[in-house]
Amino acid sequence: MSQNSARTPRINDLANRIDVGFREALLAAMGESAAATDPSIKVAANPKFGDFQANFAMGLAKSLATTLGKNPREVAQLVVDHLPQSLRDLCEPMEIAGPGFVNIRLKPECIAAALTEMDIPSLGVSDSQGTHSVAVDLCGVNVAKQMHVGHLRATIIGDTISRLYERLGWKVFRQNHLGDWGLPIAMTLAALRRAKTDINRVTLDDLNTAYRNAQMQGRDDEAGLAAARATHVGPHRIAELEAQHDGASAALSDAHDTLRRLQSGDTAIVADWQKLIDVTMREVYETAQILRVDLKPEHNRGESFFRDRLASTVDAFVSANLAMRDDGALVVRFADRERPLLIQKSDGTSLYATTDLAAARYRIQDLGAELVVYCVDARQRDHFRDVFDAVRLIGWTKRSDDSQASLVHVPFGAVLGADKRPLKTRSGENFTLKALLDEAVARGRREVRSRAAVPDAPTSGMSGAELDAIGEAVGIAAIKYADLSCDVGRDYVFDLDRMVSFEGDTGPYAQYAHARISGILAKAGANGATSPIIIGAPEERALAFNLLRYPNAIEDAAAQLAPNRIAAFIYELANTFNAFYQSCPVLRGVDDATRCSRLRLCDLTRRVLADALSIMAISAPTRM
Ligand code: ARG
Repeated sequence: MSQNSARTPRINDLANRIDVGFREALLAAMGESAAATDPSIKVAANPKFGDFQANFAMGLAKSLATTLGKNPREVAQLVVDHLPQSLRDLCEPMEIAGPGFVNIRLKPECIAAALTEMDIPSLGVSDSQGTHSVAVDLCGVNVAKQMHVGHLRATIIGDTISRLYERLGWKVFRQNHLGDWGLPIAMTLAALRRAKTDINRVTLDDLNTAYRNAQMQGRDDEAGLAAARATHVGPHRIAELEAQHDGASAALSDAHDTLRRLQSGDTAIVADWQKLIDVTMREVYETAQILRVDLKPEHNRGESFFRDRLASTVDAFVSANLAMRDDGALVVRFADRERPLLIQKSDGTSLYATTDLAAARYRIQDLGAELVVYCVDARQRDHFRDVFDAVRLIGWTKRSDDSQASLVHVPFGAVLGADKRPLKTRSGENFTLKALLDEAVARGRREVRSRAAVPDAPTSGMSGAELDAIGEAVGIAAIKYADLSCDVGRDYVFDLDRMVSFEGDTGPYAQYAHARISGILAKAGANGATSPIIIGAPEERALAFNLLRYPNAIEDAAAQLAPNRIAAFIYELANTFNAFYQSCPVLRGVDDATRCSRLRLCDLTRRVLADALSIMAISAPTRM
């Protein structure tokens, strides 16, 4: 992905300037024979030896042994002697070390200058000003069902990826691909109608029960169930696949009938259906608000949104000779795999995949997205592989400027209980997301209240309501950070004790670092805003390098679709700051210039932390 337009000078540009200088020196010292040599500039493993290291000399001495007749240390020295003045001005005198490494240490003024340049509202993060665009498939709840922990992941990972790209100035289209049109919802609707339930008074819990019962009834057909399970797809698709088998129960044929009426616009059914959506979405938006996720009705692009595009989607595959008849159904075949993608059932109805084909086309062709990111459970990996391949086959990835859009599934792992099995409540039920959040908030509040009880705590004397607000922020940060800080694809164990801890790689630890700096700045009554930055102590240097890395960290996280990189950055910055604060006095016992410079470092750190946390939509209280 090439999303880096105008870059602001920063750490990698310092590295880049070093790289360019060394290339020049290589050429000047040994002519064309070294023109292709990579100076191989790396961040030094140990700050004792400098900031960067150039490791070209050993390889070069070996490959040019006969013509050069110099050992690696001599080669290194020769190149260093030819370094352009512009680079010498940036660095302390270079040292040749060991078998021929060049140790490079930047002058403190040069680090201070880079940091000063970064100390602007953008914090050095580039802004593509809407010249790039991405569609992010997030949330994807199924109507009439409670959100479960899987939807937590689809929602917060999707929101974070959206915010990452928004931060980089991309146009972001959030797409909530609601499950609101297929057989599952028809099953629920049919069950509710059979039971003569008053749709005007149902709660999401009622719907959830009806949904489950409907699914159970639909599963009376053992053969269908076995076949569906064997395909390892999500529950949503299982219901759909089951229905393809013979011997469907009465409940199923009732559901089919309801689906047909829904899809043909039967007013009574459509009205009931709309109510189910309203009841479901009310809770989804409430949950989104608690999670601080940006999810609104305008982001809804549910399955039903594509209902009028399904026929033309199927037709397009037929006309392109890409869809074949198979036992009355229509399938798309792939060269490298046995199982085709079913896009129309023999009864003429379409499927989950058909909707996804229409949605991908819409996202690229109508919205103009150059990148489409799907934050969906890893169990749907095969589904997306097939859908993406089909979209490429038919050519819908081609954009109006002839470039190719990318379709990427970000397959996330499961949330496990302490027993390493999918998280369940004590009674063996799936954890609803709401129950989980309630528990996290309660824990956060307990934690914050007990800390406030300690004399001299920054929060002592705050009102109960204030403490509860902070407690809620802590509880929510705890579970969001724990989720977002692990490698997306991996399963993780839901352990609230660990997540809510103020120590270690946790959300509250990151929030606390921010609150602590806010406390320092409040005590100082100033933030050193325009004071010159002075880089002296090694801990100041380490902090400065960490801060300078921020823009790159954000760009990397976006390019790799890896929210955990933001978390890793935050954790390292919080640690580096704590080390700095431990050995570099800020408020007392230092001269004025140092105090002002350090306050400015504190303030910049605070803003970078707050900015990084805001990308994960984690709040940053000023007192904790
Ligand atoms: N509703 C689906 C489920 O819960 C998830 C939707 C994911 N997005 C998509 N474009 N298929 O399984």
